[in-house]
Amino acid sequence: MTIIRSLLFVPGNAPNMLDKALALRPDAFIPDLEDSVPIDEKANARSITSSYLERFAATGQLIIPRVNSLDTGLLEEDLTAIVGPHIFGVSVGKIDTPVDIAEVSKVLQRLEIRAGMQIGTVKLVPWIESASAIVNVYEICASSSRIVGVSLGAEDFTNDMEIERRGDDRELAYPRNAIAIAARAAGVLALDTPFFAFRDPDALRENSADSKALGFRGRFAIHPAQIDVINQVFSPSDAEVKHARRVVAAFEEAASQGRGSTSLDGHVVDVPVVKRAEALLELAESMGT
Ligand code: COA
Ligand code: MG
Repeated sequence: MTIIRSLLFVPGNAPNMLDKALALRPDAFIPDLEDSVPIDEKANARSITSSYLERFAATGQLIIPRVNSLDTGLLEEDLTAIVGPHIFGVSVGKIDTPVDIAEVSKVLQRLEIRAGMQIGTVKLVPWIESASAIVNVYEICASSSRIVGVSLGAEDFTNDMEIERRGDDRELAYPRNAIAIAARAAGVLALDTPFFAFRDPDALRENSADSKALGFRGRFAIHPAQIDVINQVFSPSDAEVKHARRVVAAFEEAASQGRGSTSLDGHVVDVPVVKRAEALLELAESMGT
């Protein structure tokens, strides 16, 4: 699976922020054509964003522009402006059903053929942000090999539910669990909703650690200051790596004595425990941490 921990939103009609972003290194850049762009700026955002794609591609990071949803009538023009060799994928707002994915894929396929690209090159990151989308989330995740991850959109989800957003995110408990489990079952990444209190890194860290504990693999950032915190939370820590090495060593020693389990610091080390430690070491290695 591709590693995508931090995904930085940049409003697609804001050259000053797009310039600023070029010097940053989130795992993925998300130039936004959707809700951070006012309706009368949509065309402007398309042309500005497409003029930046080559420069973003030169950073070596992934580019996954976010486009307007199917019901806006803007999606086809958005995709026409951005599909090409520079992008890794597209993120599509307000996907409710597998049929929505099929419709987006059809447009992508046409554009890929026109650009001389192999069909299926452009990946998809749908936004799950309505009650219907939550009910359909596994079917959505499993509906296309283009899908590499799914995102929770908390603001739109709570609007659709006609419920309040509270400070402690209790209202997100079920959607977060549903998305994390569906994404895992379909072999795609669960990516968490942006954290809006962008001047509170401690709250971002705590909130993101909770979503990581449920199975989320990364999170959207809306401000440059959030990138490092998100990368840290969604990477194995030094202490975790050290502990995993000790678990593997203890298990190997037990195995060499013909035993299938042992203990470390008062905890059992058996097959699933050592498997988890090995997976963590593999992840740390692939992240270069
Ligand atoms: N990408 C690139 N640069 C950004 C940025 C972003 N997402 N957010 C802020 N910056 C820049 C600012 O332009 C500013 O640049 P400057 O020093 O050259 O003036 C610098 O970082 C510091 O910004 P700051 O003053 O702390 O914040 P702000 O008040 O200018 O902006 C927001 C705050 C929330 C309006 C802004 O971060 C933003 O628009 N974020 C994206 C929102 C978005 O995409 N939402 C859609 C998904 S929900
Ligand atoms: Mg949304």
